[in-house]
Amino acid sequence: MSVPTIALIGASGHGRRHRQHIEDLGDRVRLVALGDVQGLPGEELPVYTDHRRLLAEHKPDYVVICTPPHTHLPIALDAVHAGADLLLEKPPVLDLDAHERLSAALTATGRRCQVGFQALGSPTLPALAALGLGRLTHIAVAGAWWRPATYWTRSPWSGRRAVDGALVNPFAHALMQALAIGDVRPPWTLELERFRTRDIEVEDTAALRLTPVDGPVITVAVTLASTEFIAGDITVTGADGAAHVVYPTDRLDGVELPGRVGLLENLLSGDPLLVPLSRTAPFTALAAQIMAAPDPVPLTGVAHDDGVAIPGIADLVRTAAARHALLSEVGDLPCAS
Ligand SMILES: NC(=O)c1ccc[n+]([C@@H]2O[C@H](COP(=O)([O-])OP(=O)(O)OC[C@H]3O[C@@H](n4cnc5c(N)ncnc54)[C@H](O)[C@@H]3O)[C@@H](O)[C@H]2O)c1
Repeated sequence: MSVPTIALIGASGHGRRHRQHIEDLGDRVRLVALGDVQGLPGEELPVYTDHRRLLAEHKPDYVVICTPPHTHLPIALDAVHAGADLLLEKPPVLDLDAHERLSAALTATGRRCQVGFQALGSPTLPALAALGLGRLTHIAVAGAWWRPATYWTRSPWSGRRAVDGALVNPFAHALMQALAIGDVRPPWTLELERFRTRDIEVEDTAALRLTPVDGPVITVAVTLASTEFIAGDITVTGADGAAHVVYPTDRLDGVELPGRVGLLENLLSGDPLLVPLSRTAPFTALAAQIMAAPDPVPLTGVAHDDGVAIPGIADLVRTAAARHALLSEVGDLPCAS
């Protein structure tokens, strides 16, 4: 049997990780070409600055798309129409119209699209479902990281309105996990707070409470301006108990579980997809609402590294998650006025 072929579009940045992963798979798949608008000087494989030429000349069986989020839709449409199955990075698309267009193209072509929410391959999720927590009432996410100034200048789309932000990018995995654990989907009521400590167009600190018509209430409190680290811990509460999930260490109630399933391996296997595009519709609906919200409120803080950290923010994040509250409901943030 011939080895299936794969191409990687968006080959620097996070694309390097995909390349390494493809190479680690050995003869299960053959990397035939790379696509990147910047070109890749010195590269031995064929490189295309126009992804359509790559698709026409190589007709790869699989395409990994790791370009900036606002470029995903046209590349994904071209790739499925060229006959490829996709591993499409998160966030897959930026609004529900785009989701529907890609979904229709997948149906029309019979192609498959796995979305790069790798946390959904974590063994904690089936183990959590097996715990028997009863009807879920609350899911709370707490995350506190530090990101230096270079994080917000690393790419032209970093920190830009309608494409980036703490909730839809760095904490996207926790948000997607929470939605998936609760099988939460619209309609819902969204209460949202967005703050920023830096000169960026999006939030680096935020809280939300999502109350669906049917399903558990999700609360999220996260920041990228903390000197203390909280990974993005998820507390799941049901009628019959509670449990605690931590990614990326795959811990359920403090115990690290083996057996993470890789998204590319899952796609190549032909098994049902762990993260088909359809599973990400609630994330896209929520992300579109977040990105359309009023601009974040500027905060002051204390000098740290090359920016400012918000004093006590990790405690506030923890308290907000424990009380299913917004940040403003559990403390005072240092708003610049
Ligand atoms: N799953 C994860 O954990 C994870 C982690 C990091 C990034 N990502 C996602 O990966 C994607 C890329 O992120 P990044 O940080 O590598 O971005 P980046 O801007 O650093 O890199 C994107 C690459 O795509 C290229 N590119 C831009 N437009 C292109 C186009 N139209 N055709 C071909 N190439 C194009 C750029 O030249 C660049 O090399 C984003 O969707 C991001 O959210 C996912």
